[in-house]
Amino acid sequence: MPPGADPTPGGRVHPKAWSGRLQDPTDPVLERYSTSVQEDLGLAEFDIRGSAAHAGRLARAGLIRPREHQQLLAGLEQIAQEVRSGAFRTRPEDEDIHMAVERRLAELIGEPALRLHTGRSRNDQVALDLRLWTRAAAVRLSQEVLELEAVLLRRARRERATLIPGYTHLQRAQPVTLAHHLLAYFEMLERDRERLQQLHRRAGISPLGAGALAGSTLPLDRDQAAAELGLLAPTANSLDSVSDRDFALELLFASALIAVHLSRMAEDLILWSTAEFGFLELPDRWSTGSSLMPQKKNPDLLELVRGRAGRPVAALLGLLLVLKGLPLSYNRDLQEDKAHLFPAVASVEASLEALAGLLGEAAFNRERMAEAASDPRLLATDLAERLVQEGVPFRRAHEVVGRLVSRAEGEGRRLDLVLGESWRELGFADDPSGLLDPRRSLASREQPGAPGPAAQDAALRRAAEQLRRGRAWVRRQSS
Ligand code: ARG
Repeated sequence: MPPGADPTPGGRVHPKAWSGRLQDPTDPVLERYSTSVQEDLGLAEFDIRGSAAHAGRLARAGLIRPREHQQLLAGLEQIAQEVRSGAFRTRPEDEDIHMAVERRLAELIGEPALRLHTGRSRNDQVALDLRLWTRAAAVRLSQEVLELEAVLLRRARRERATLIPGYTHLQRAQPVTLAHHLLAYFEMLERDRERLQQLHRRAGISPLGAGALAGSTLPLDRDQAAAELGLLAPTANSLDSVSDRDFALELLFASALIAVHLSRMAEDLILWSTAEFGFLELPDRWSTGSSLMPQKKNPDLLELVRGRAGRPVAALLGLLLVLKGLPLSYNRDLQEDKAHLFPAVASVEASLEALAGLLGEAAFNRERMAEAASDPRLLATDLAERLVQEGVPFRRAHEVVGRLVSRAEGEGRRLDLVLGESWRELGFADDPSGLLDPRRSLASREQPGAPGPAAQDAALRRAAEQLRRGRAWVRRQSS
């Protein structure tokens, strides 16, 4: 049967599913207002998988014959191919992807298509589709997070000895290494990945069989269909099954937090690329110029990563507002979920790719970083801690060193010179000037999680192991 031919008796083209009850044709304004078929397109492959699993339920219950089952599967497979190749066409009067697939199925195989919706509602159908979509998105995002992590780890390995000031309040605080700084980003992303894995597991239960809201009178299994779809179990309550979108909120929160993390990284890199910092040279390939000022090289990509973080945050709030106050169980408001979810997740995926690309090629200016880290005032805390080891209470030690710093600044002299003259009167047992060496300071910071060389090597090994496990998880989910 050619696409678009009327598969139904009676000669009416494409009647609505409810044309028995509602006699008048739907007003075109309502039709245009209510369709979600365009934004649903991302669901198509999952809708088809869900329908194939549902067809299996019908066959096992004896509600369709084996031949009809085969026809349904063949028709669904053909539609899946059309979706993959881009040949699949929706129509303005398709209310959503579920109706579009069912219509196309009827065009392809006729009568058996009319049996597919037995014991199923679009309410459990869309809940299933969206769970499958969420799980696939969680795997994709994990993969993209891993790619950025791999760039961070690769660059961190080469910057184990690169000194850089660590900042608090955006004021130079204490020396660390560039590797330590990059591994801080790695930690943020590891938490993101863990969250994705957890929500992937929680999303992995099957609403199929919840029906419109109260199951079905027909003897349709739920466990086997869930297992066929790679899901852990059927959902536990039919009302909750069709009204729950917590899994979508969780994905939006995970996406929003990834975006916030990327935005914070972007901000550091933007600062570092300024003449004022001079820590980073942006690669030309990843920079933009000005249409007016010939000398400019701008970090637009980083600014877009920072700015685009607004999208998933807004989408998270948007979906929370859709859900707030909804009575049980399904309400059409829920259709709004996809408009919030899909573009927001896509924007985070794009930002992950962009930031990984830029960070892979950015040139760190080690000399500028080392110079900034060499200010002896960054080791004032080390001096105070030396006094503590000599028995001085910390508060007093803090004050003594604070005064020393203030005196050096007042005299416009380096801290090490002033210290060399006055360590005795300050109460040090020996000349502590040797402490004012950032490498020596780092060498004595070997607690777990600190930037000392051995602790840092342990952190690098740990990161490599996390990367390996993360990749194995993604491979398992994709196989
Ligand atoms: N397009 C709808 C959605 O996304 C599918 C479910 C429609 N169900 C209904 N009873 N109208 O939520």
